[in-house]
Amino acid sequence: MKKIISVVGARPNFMKVAPLFRAFQQYTDIQHLICHTGQHYDDRMSSIFFEELELPRPDFYLGVGSGSHAEQLAGIMLGFEKIVQSERPDLVIVVGDVNSTVACSLIASRFLIPIAHVEAGLRSFDRTMPEEINRLLTDALADYLFVSEPSGVRNLEKEGIPQEKIFFVGNVMIDSLLYYLPKIAQSKILQTLHCQPGEYILVTLHRPSNVDHREELQELIGLLREIASLKKIIFPVHPRTRKKIHEFSLEDMIPTNVIITEPLGYLDFMQLVQHAALVITDSGGIQEETTFLQIPCITVRNNTERPVTVETGTNRLAGTNPTRIKQTVMEILNGNRPHGRIPEYWDGHAAERIAKIIYEKL
Ligand code: UD1
Repeated sequence: MKKIISVVGARPNFMKVAPLFRAFQQYTDIQHLICHTGQHYDDRMSSIFFEELELPRPDFYLGVGSGSHAEQLAGIMLGFEKIVQSERPDLVIVVGDVNSTVACSLIASRFLIPIAHVEAGLRSFDRTMPEEINRLLTDALADYLFVSEPSGVRNLEKEGIPQEKIFFVGNVMIDSLLYYLPKIAQSKILQTLHCQPGEYILVTLHRPSNVDHREELQELIGLLREIASLKKIIFPVHPRTRKKIHEFSLEDMIPTNVIITEPLGYLDFMQLVQHAALVITDSGGIQEETTFLQIPCITVRNNTERPVTVETGTNRLAGTNPTRIKQTVMEILNGNRPHGRIPEYWDGHAAERIAKIIYEKL
């Protein structure tokens, strides 16, 4: 019997581990355990995803919570070290690019435990993003690098990662999207918010570079005011963004016709994506989900680590200049919608490919 521990910490991790959990259930001689670091801990950022994605209670919960960058990383490392020492897994799987991903990789490598990184090779080439540092370090430590789009393979090869460690398997986030589509269709969120399909723009903003400083956040909220005069906006607000809006006293700037919600669960949120006229976001994963659903997406960033969503998909990088973003919004609302194709291997079977490769290697 081989033992694998998969790590989850923050919201975008849960829908990546759910299909891996299912895929490993097919292998009776693999014990697959889940460690939740507790980087995200609010019910709406964490436990709702376990329920909706039909994930079991995590086998280990570190309860790390928020703090400074160093506190969070150190807390995860201290907690995960104890787990690894007592469990001695044969493999640790980390996903994505959050602090939990790199912190647990550092511990696994210290104990010479092989690491699989799911969503390896993505690069924004912007080292001011904490996620870029997490990606570079995790990929340097990983033994099996599972890649979701062709740019990932090229980036890893350029960094000198040997080819035999790199596996282009597709996108586990899309595995989840395909698997849960029937449940997404049953969500009542459109009814609850009194919205019709195609009638609204969905907005999410949480990157530190967009929300942590007054000037940038104020500009973006000013932009929402202008866009709200063109079309209804639904804006589920991330805890980081809510905290900053409050800190900078920007609540009154948000027009009354913007529908503000708490962070939403996976099923409700994906139903809103699926029926949006347009999505405006600074998230990584949403660029991929809109590409798969062929919904126009405007990414409020100057770069993306997911270039396939722009080259092949429906994503447009609009930068952070409000005038340019508004212009792009108007173009799309006036019918100039990007026509995308679905990238290779985004077919619902990435986790099965990963499990098979890992099974053979172990
Ligand atoms: C983290 C990830 C980011 C990912 C995002 C998705 C890192 C470096 N960043 O950013 O890549 O896109 O998750 O959400 O790992 N908070 C709560 N409740 C929670 C979680 C957070 O109130 O359950 C608040 C706290 O005030 C906290 C702040 O949000 O300080 C930021 O949380 P943190 O986990 O540090 O980073 P995110 O911005 O969520």
